[in-house]
Formats: sequence, structure tokens, C-alpha cells
Amino acid sequence: MSLIAELNRLQAERGYLREEELRDASERLRVPLYRLQEVVSFYPHFRTTPPPRCEVTLCRDLSCFMAGGEAWGAKVKALLGGEKDVEVREVSCLGRCDRAPAAMVNGVAVGAEAPETVARLAQSPPEHHETPAARRQWRIDPYGEGGEPFSIHQAWAQRADEVIATLKAAGLRGMGGAGFQTGLKWELVRKEAATPKYVICNADESEPGTFKDRVLLEEVPHLVVEGMCLAASVVGAERGWIYLRHEYEHACGPLERAIGQALRRGLLGRGFEIEIFLSPGGYILGEETALLEALEDKRGEPRNKPPYPGSRGLWGKPTVINNVETFAMVPAILRRGADWWKAQGVRGHQGLKVMAASGDVGRPGVYEIPMGTTVGELIEMAGGITGGKKLKAFAPGGASSAFLPADKAGVEIDFASVQAAGSMLGSGALVAVAEGADMLSVAHNVVRFFRNESCGKCVPCRTGTEKVVGMLDQVLAGKGDGTLRGVLPGLEETLAQTSICGLGQVALNPLTSVLKAWPEELDRHLTKGIAK
Ligand SMILES: Cc1cc2nc3c(=O)[nH]c(=O)nc-3n(C[C@H](O)[C@H](O)[C@H](O)COP(=O)(O)O)c2cc1C
Ligand code: SF4
Ligand code: FES
Repeated sequence: MSLIAELNRLQAERGYLREEELRDASERLRVPLYRLQEVVSFYPHFRTTPPPRCEVTLCRDLSCFMAGGEAWGAKVKALLGGEKDVEVREVSCLGRCDRAPAAMVNGVAVGAEAPETVARLAQSPPEHHETPAARRQWRIDPYGEGGEPFSIHQAWAQRADEVIATLKAAGLRGMGGAGFQTGLKWELVRKEAATPKYVICNADESEPGTFKDRVLLEEVPHLVVEGMCLAASVVGAERGWIYLRHEYEHACGPLERAIGQALRRGLLGRGFEIEIFLSPGGYILGEETALLEALEDKRGEPRNKPPYPGSRGLWGKPTVINNVETFAMVPAILRRGADWWKAQGVRGHQGLKVMAASGDVGRPGVYEIPMGTTVGELIEMAGGITGGKKLKAFAPGGASSAFLPADKAGVEIDFASVQAAGSMLGSGALVAVAEGADMLSVAHNVVRFFRNESCGKCVPCRTGTEKVVGMLDQVLAGKGDGTLRGVLPGLEETLAQTSICGLGQVALNPLTSVLKAWPEELDRHLTKGIAK
């Protein structure tokens, strides 16, 4: 058993990691105590003090902030302030941005409830997650209208070159953020001579506004598992992991059922196995090399790239890492063909996309749309802007994507189009902002998220985000002196050039986009400060 899995097990037993247990584990596993301590101290999920009777975690990030999370959280804290043995903590995005403001009570999600309800739940914590509403009909699910699940693997397992050619012809791109060509990634790993090889599903989804993977894991886990098995057949992998954020532990049930089915159908157990790895970490663990470090039982700090995981991944061996949605799309493409896939898009774009929509929309949720759907159309599907208001701004790809103004709502959802409009499709998360919002406060919230989640390995990312949050604190408190505007371009350039991973490289983009599109908002705050 891996070190982190063992620490997860020990913590599950008593709710925390006791010094004596760590010493015992150190001897039992023949791992120096300092190694255990360096791992325990890195991951926010591990605790070394006894847990309270009830732990309430409140999301402080983008979609929840926009839903009045600050005042809401303050009320929850006030209501529970005097409660013995109840701990209330602010945390990063819980992946429930569709039910903002979101909270968890003893690890069970309780979204969009009144503060009084959260306080009541803290008295008798719920034991189970709400079961999701009826499963929808997914166009990416080729078994939706019948057919034996996992039969696509049977038909394609021995046709590696054809799988690669079909994925390339379909133009399938990775849905985790970077948009790398999936067929090409699988081909590169297939060509690697080194063995053994591995397949990893990245289910760490932690970027504010992003929750599509959670819904896919709950509703179509069989497609994720079959996609992984197909990848394993193509590259010749022996082992696979689903790297799951611990706040999605409830998805273990559906995933284990899908793994069991795949085992009975012979996709697993004959040279390829899949395990679920519960991540004790935060947002940075979604970065593919940080994730590899965690699977290797180390602190989850990103590696320098190259080499890329395709050539030197887990334990230095060739590794396919794909996002949940990427794997889930593969079976449909193989069953129905690249031409069918391409024809699913509109306005000259190709394929389907699963998007999360949150923020100021009437029906936040996950929408399966043709590529090429406009942002405005997606907002309409999601119930339009709340309160009959007009759209002011939107982030098309989660918290790390640049904000665009409402006049860009005609942008077609597709990697190249969103990039040409000045942002990125990123993690597939549209966050809509209604008129009247203070964009500087919104940007402050986002930079603070990156500051909080920076792993600290690169000095410019660690101190640069801290510095900018400090300046924004001053500006929003009416004490800004305009320094921010002067130093931001240089800082942004420094972070982009010197950060070893995407977090630092894009951390200041959302703020820069706000200052570019709404320069008067900073002026307004500065004027307010000067008038005081
Ligand atoms: C800070 C950071 C966090 C990330 N988080 C995730 C994540 O939660 N899920 C994911 O699939 N990709 C995430 N990525 C992207 C991965 O590094 C990687 O590109 C992706 O898993 C590859 O899969 P794909 O080709 O299917 O997109 C993140 C990247 C960065 C820089
Ligand atoms: S850029 Fe930031 S998050 Fe990424 S490795 Fe460097 S310090 Fe860590
Ligand atoms: S759950 Fe709050 S921003 Fe995602």
C-alpha cells in the first residue's frame, strides 16, 4: 500500500493522524519519520490534531463569492460561534459551484442552504450525500439507447493504430485545460519503448467554477473507465489510477461499480488494473506532474517540464494522463466514428463539449453542448442572467481564464475561438457576471485563490500573488495609491516567464483582463480612497 493511501486509512480511523501512529507507520513501512512528516505537512486534508465533533467548511471562491458567500459565511460563523466542538473554516472551491454558496458538513456537501440550515445541520451532521437527480440522456453515452456497456472496448482493443487514427481524425483535444490532441498523446506513449506504462485519469477538478467532471463521474463512470481501458490497450499499460479529489469521495461508489462491471466483462484483471487514489491535496494536485509526485508518495509540487509524462511520467515511465471528460468521450467517437463526432459541432466547429455554467445564471449546472454554441446561447440554456439583469462579463474557462466583456458573448465555444477573443476554454467552466458587479472585487477573489493554492516552489508565484493580493486589499479598502497599475505588467511578465507550472503562469491574467476591459473600476476605487 502506498504511503498516502496508508495515511488516508489511518486518518479515516480516528479522524486525525496521531504522533504515535506516525511513528508506528514509520517503523512498519520502513520509511523515515521525516518523510512521513514532510508528506503530512504538505496536504491540507491531513490533520494532526483531533477533529471537532463537527467540521463545517465554507467555500470562499468565485461562484460562491458572487452568490453572496462572504455575508452568508459570516452569518454561519456567527450562528455557530459559541458552539462547543464545532469548527467552521473557509476553504477553496468545493466543486459545487452550481449550488453556491457551497458548504460541507463533516465532508458531506450541503449547497445553497440558508445559514440557519447549515447551523442546524452542524448539530446533527448528514451522513450521506444527496443522490443526484435522475440521470440525463447524454449524447456522449453510446449506451444511452441500449447496447452492452464496455462492448466498444471488445471491438477496438486490438486495433491500436485505428483508435489513434480515429481520435486524430475526430480532432479530440484534452478537456483538462491545455487542449492537447488526445490521439497524438496516446500515439507518443504507444511509441515509447520503456515499460511498464501507466494510465491516469485526472479527476482532481478544483478550479473555481468547474464541476463538470463531478457530474460525469456520478452519471457516466462507465465511459470514464472504458476510456481508460481503451487507452491502456493502445499504449500497452499495466496499471491505471483515477486520481480523485477527496471532496468527491462520494463518486467512489459509482466508479467502483463501473470498475467491477469492467472486471466482469474482462476489460480489467487480464494485464490491466484500475485503482482509485483519493487525493489529500488542493488545486495544485490537478497539475499533472504534481499529481505524479503525489502518486509517488511525495509532496505534490510540480516538476520541471520537459520531460513530459508521456515519456517520463509515473516512476519515470511513460504515462497517459487525461481528464475525466476526455476519457468519457472516447467510446462514443469509436462507436459512431470521427465523421459523426465532427458533425456534432455547429458553425463549422467539431464535436461536443461538456460545460459547467455558474455565477449569475438562473439554472447553474452542467450542459452538454455542440462545440460552436455561443456563450450567449449557453447562458440562455442556463436560465439567463439572474433577476432579469444584463450580462456584464464572463470567464469562459474557469477562474484562470481572462474575463471578457458582455459584447463578446457572441464568441463560439471552441478552443481557437475563445483564444482569439482573448481568453481560453480552460477547464470548461463558464462563470457569468451580471451588471452591477464590482469587477475589481471579483478579480481580487480570483487572485486570492491562486495565492492560497500556490504550492510555493517558485518564488515569483509565491510572493508575486501575495504582493498583488496585498495591493488589492489596500485598493478595496480605499487606501490604494495607483501602484498596482504600474507594477502589474512587470509582475505578470515575471510570473509568466519564471513559474514552472500553469498556476503561476496565468495567476494574474484574470486581474489584467479586468483592468484592461474596465479601467474605470480601479480609478473609482482610487478616487474613493483619495476622497477619504
Ligand atoms: C494548476 C493546475 C491545475 C490543474 N488541474 C487539473 C484538473 O483538476 N483536472 C485536469 O484534468 N487537468 C488539470 N490540469 C491540467 C493537467 O495538468 C493536464 O494538462 C491534464 O490533466 C491533461 O489531460 P487532458 O489532455 O485530457 O486535458 C491542471 C493544470 C494546472 C496547471
Ligand atoms: S508556479 Fe506556483 S503553483 Fe506552480 S510550481 Fe511554481 S509555486 Fe508552485
Ligand atoms: S464551490 Fe464555491 S466556487 Fe466552486
